[in-house]
Amino acid sequence: MEQEKSAGIVIWLTGMSGAGKSTIARALVARMQTFGRQSLLLDGDVLRNGLNADLGFSEADRTENLRRIAHVAVLFSQAGYVAVTATISPAAEHRERARQIAGKASFVEVFVDTPLDVCEMRDPKGLYKRARRGEIAHFTGLSAPYEPPCAPDVVVRTQHAEITQCVDAIVDYLLRTHRIEPSHVNG
Ligand code: ADX
Repeated sequence: MEQEKSAGIVIWLTGMSGAGKSTIARALVARMQTFGRQSLLLDGDVLRNGLNADLGFSEADRTENLRRIAHVAVLFSQAGYVAVTATISPAAEHRERARQIAGKASFVEVFVDTPLDVCEMRDPKGLYKRARRGEIAHFTGLSAPYEPPCAPDVVVRTQHAEITQCVDAIVDYLLRTHRIEPSHVNG
């Protein structure tokens, strides 16, 4: 009998710089493996060092950055992977386009809802400080807009919850909507 192939999923994390997207995404990728699912992370910061190194932060460049990431995510999801993306994707339109590119693949929008003041206090890369000094133009949240999603599939709040709890919330959603099967690892 032909073995049933796992359906691919694109899990699209959106939120401001410093919101905790990459940390949650890494933990989520690891968690997917406990469900017997192959998973990979497409991180905006990382991809901007390679595939998207030719792009900046103008509206057009962000659109192209996210278009490429969505297409790569879909390729992996078509191969049965759970593709987890971690990008600011600041505009509702960016996220809508990514959903369209995903087409028949399951697309799950996760809003990493960390307020600007918390992101700025964390400032893990010192970018908010630099942006405040005027050294970085079009910085999301300060000199460029971030449109919070109107109807995300999942919302996680890193200032109130541990990373594990944020991952639990995403996993609960995936189970509830039958996108993944319960793990039988522990019986
Ligand atoms: S997106 O807007 O096109 O989705 P992406 O997620 O790939 O952005 O990259 C965001 C990362 O780039 C931030 O986490 C931050 O480290 C860095 N960065 C550098 N310049 C900017 C800027 N002007 N606005 C936002 N992030 C920036």
